[in-house]
Amino acid sequence: MNTADILIQGVSKQFRTGLGKSKIGVQNLNLEVPKGQVVGLLGPNGSGKSTTIKMILGFLRPTSGNIRVCGHQVPSKITRSFIGYLPENPRFPKFLSGRTLLNFYGRLLSLTGIELEKRIDFLLELVNLKAAGDEKVQGYSKGMTQRLAIAQALINKPRLLIFDEPMSGLDPLGRKDIRSLIGRIHSELPEATIFFSSHILEDIEQLCSMVALLKKGQLQTFCSIDELLKSDTQKFEVSVRSSKETEIKTLTGTDELITFLNESKSKGFFVSGINSQRKTLEEALFRDGNSPIKIARTNSPEAQP
Ligand SMILES: Nc1ncnc2c1ncn2[C@@H]1O[C@H](COP(=O)(O)OP(=O)(O)OP(=O)(O)O)[C@@H](O)[C@H]1O
Ligand SMILES: [Mg+2]
Repeated sequence: MNTADILIQGVSKQFRTGLGKSKIGVQNLNLEVPKGQVVGLLGPNGSGKSTTIKMILGFLRPTSGNIRVCGHQVPSKITRSFIGYLPENPRFPKFLSGRTLLNFYGRLLSLTGIELEKRIDFLLELVNLKAAGDEKVQGYSKGMTQRLAIAQALINKPRLLIFDEPMSGLDPLGRKDIRSLIGRIHSELPEATIFFSSHILEDIEQLCSMVALLKKGQLQTFCSIDELLKSDTQKFEVSVRSSKETEIKTLTGTDELITFLNESKSKGFFVSGINSQRKTLEEALFRDGNSPIKIARTNSPEAQP
């Protein structure tokens, strides 16, 4: 039995667009997300991020293929009970307060009484809405609405969090708020798997342990960030000195670095400085701005169609 929190096997989605025509949402997608990971689903507009998310939630049925969430076949009522979902454009009835809304969503999920009140207080604090909790949502900024929607997604202590573009439409400070909130959620709930989409590399680089890159409905890359930023192409700038001369050299990879240091030492040089130039996720994913590097997927043989 595969214990991945999200298991997507050979999933395609075609949308009928009328007059016998259809459009591809995603194509032959395979993805296996182990428990406790923070996974970034990266891709430009229209690449299939929301389609993937809606299929994981069971809102859309794949045209073909199979999806399991925490071992349960999708769609099923049970998977919804342990998924916390933040939709792409969350909307709330404007005349209610944040607190009343959280109370309403909590009761929908069968939470009541003091337990629910305590949960709401905890969540309002977590998302930094304690002071505004009793204000009507119509007075909330975009960032506050987004944070309320994250609190709503967390009400049921979900083990799997799925956020569709949690930073979209926010200014740089608002994005930073949501980034640090996701980081805090991960440290408070290390067991929970967080799966979120974004088209901004920086968001993914700072938060995620794994990245999945979609392009035109197809998975280009799925691997751990560490694997992607591994040092085999990392650059080092090294300066070595002797009593007579100074030499500065740029080296690629740790093997080259070690060889150069050994040679320098045997020639009587000493090292006066080493600068490591860390690869960015952008450099790792794109060679020339738009051609993603194909990387061996971490999918187990079980995840193949
Ligand atoms: N209900 C639908 N009917 C027809 N086509 C659809 C439907 N939903 C999505 N699509 C198409 O499927 C493709 C993937 O769309 P999707 O919304 O999943 O992309 P996305 O990566 O979430 O984009 P964005 O960054 O703009 O949110 C697009 O070409 C889109 O036009
Ligand atoms: Mg989308």
